Amino acid sequence: MDFLEIAKKRYSVRSYSDRKVEGEKLDKILQAAHIAPTAANLQPVHLIVVQKKDGLEKIGKGANIYGAPLAIIVCADHNKAWVRPFDKKKTSDIDASILTDHMMMEATELGLGSVWVCYFKPDVIRKEFSLPDNLEPINILAIGYPNEAAADPERHSQNRIPIKELVSYEKM
Ligand SMILES: Cc1cc2nc3c(=O)[nH]c(=O)nc-3n(C[C@H](O)[C@H](O)[C@H](O)COP(=O)(O)O)c2cc1C
Repeated sequence: MDFLEIAKKRYSVRSYSDRKVEGEKLDKILQAAHIAPTAANLQPVHLIVVQKKDGLEKIGKGANIYGAPLAIIVCADHNKAWVRPFDKKKTSDIDASILTDHMMMEATELGLGSVWVCYFKPDVIRKEFSLPDNLEPINILAIGYPNEAAADPERHSQNRIPIKELVSYEKM
């Protein structure tokens, strides 16, 4: 499958079967995170892999992961973040999101479903996972085998804005 095929196939899965994600597949997903680019290669990111029952219950107190058997909490490490000198913008959220996207696409390639979750209570996740002050949970990626019909890979012409609205070109 080429990249566009994988990207079209991916959709947000909000119902999962009980089937566990195999260790080899998890390793590949983590490799995809490991090779992701970050600003100035500072790698200001930390991943917490959650797949045991008590860990999933802890996540459930602060986020809906739709019954997925695996979740990866993607944290930004503010001690390591690159800061743009002109306006002091920190890019650690961007870095965390690039890792998240790499993992999401790898999961799709491996035949797994996923959903990117930002609707969570950060204070609860921080407390449940005893996160130090420098680590901020940015995204939670829920992963597993879907228990629902797959979305149509050709749906984007209906549910995305037209490319001509998305893009503008410099005036000639
Ligand atoms: C930054 C971000 C945050 C998101 N947060 C949530 C979330 O908290 N809960 C949820 O169910 N879906 C969440 N989603 C999934 C989006 O709703 C979904 O990607 C979008 O509606 C497009 O649908 P598709 O992923 O099926 O193509 C999030 C996606 C992104 C990129």
